[in-house]
Amino acid sequence: MILVTGGAGFIGSNFVLDWLAQSNEPVVNVDKLTYAGNLNNLLALQGRPEHIFVRVDIRDTAGIEALLNTHKPRAIVHFAAESHVDRSIHGPGEFISTNINGTFSMLEAARAYWTGLPEAECAGFRFLHVSTDEVFGSLGDADPAFSETTAYAPNSPYSASKAAADHLVRSYHHTYGLPTLTTNCSNNYGPYHFPEKLIPLMIANALAGKALPVYGDGKNVRDWLYVSDHCAAIRQVLQKGRCGETYNIGGWNEKTNLEVVHTLCAILDELKPNAGHASYREQIHFVTDRPGHDRRYAIDARKIERELGWKPVETFESGIKKTVQWYLDNQTWVAEVQSGAYQNWVEKNYNQRDTAVTTQDGKP
Ligand code: NAD
Ligand code: TYD
Repeated sequence: MILVTGGAGFIGSNFVLDWLAQSNEPVVNVDKLTYAGNLNNLLALQGRPEHIFVRVDIRDTAGIEALLNTHKPRAIVHFAAESHVDRSIHGPGEFISTNINGTFSMLEAARAYWTGLPEAECAGFRFLHVSTDEVFGSLGDADPAFSETTAYAPNSPYSASKAAADHLVRSYHHTYGLPTLTTNCSNNYGPYHFPEKLIPLMIANALAGKALPVYGDGKNVRDWLYVSDHCAAIRQVLQKGRCGETYNIGGWNEKTNLEVVHTLCAILDELKPNAGHASYREQIHFVTDRPGHDRRYAIDARKIERELGWKPVETFESGIKKTVQWYLDNQTWVAEVQSGAYQNWVEKNYNQRDTAVTTQDGKP
């Protein structure tokens, strides 16, 4: 039995689905179901007694401790977080509370539970904290990719809150000996990705005939990893990772945002051509940049490859095609998450941005 937090969100639900596709080891799935949590992501698990969903806030230390004592998991995989940079700019408070206090609360509950375990189970227990490459800050064009020894330099309230959580996890290993593992992964994409993030937002807007809002000059670079590759990396770290260590996870797929959007438009032009035969590219609009927008992220994933034998299976080309096809096949899922709360967010984030008058190449 393992306990997963945030298992109704994008990566967490993919992880739970993959886990139960590959084994019968039960999962206790703890999620508060914020706007980003969606039980529809887990519909395929209906009738599987190995999936136990519990609606609990990770900041409820006593509630988490009670769950641990009832289910006696051999590991915790901690995904639950506020995860969207733009939302952290509009309202940082929830990020501080969930990502920092929530992780602290998880660590306290885990420590109490782990301390009380019999010796053999105590030695095998793991607390795996899922984090991001954004804690390392922003790279220049010629800088080497982030490695596990790159200094932390977070630039957004989101990345700062994740950095603080990473430090707490580190301290619980060094101070109390809690058997922790931390992963720092690059940008994920794939099924069940909430349409506030770049890739699903662009697909949804393209299909709805809406503008494709590219921030700034569109030349910011992200490394992209297909979500099931991330899930496989986490399983590998859980199984073979060394306690107290951190592992960078990435796809070796650095792309500018404009390259990503052009790729999405080209795939949609092929799979679902616009009625008027105009390319979806014509919907691209350059809009006011994100404040403090990190220019480039890149991951050096050689440690996890060397020590644990993990490598991504998908290329960007294969993963992005699968992703677009998934969104075409699951338009009801998208329509259902685009609720009233989603509309309020779109209003807040986009209607207040100026649309810069530019060409598709980003030139004024
Ligand atoms: P998400 O926003 O899609 O899902 C987060 C989940 O956490 C939701 O189901 C939400 O209901 C739940 N949650 C939020 N606050 C909670 C609380 N107080 N108590 C219990 N549950 C709560 O996020 P995601 O994209 O799936 O990211 C998962 C984790 O992976 C996060 O820790 C994130 O920092 C990290 N990460 C994400 C990416 C990415 O590209 N999305 C990359 C690297 C790391
Ligand atoms: P996002 O998916 O929010 O992930 P993150 O900021 O955590 O990397 O954004 C990915 C990139 O896409 C980032 O450089 C910001 C940019 N972006 C846009 O240009 N337009 C958008 O509407 C969004 C949501 C993001």
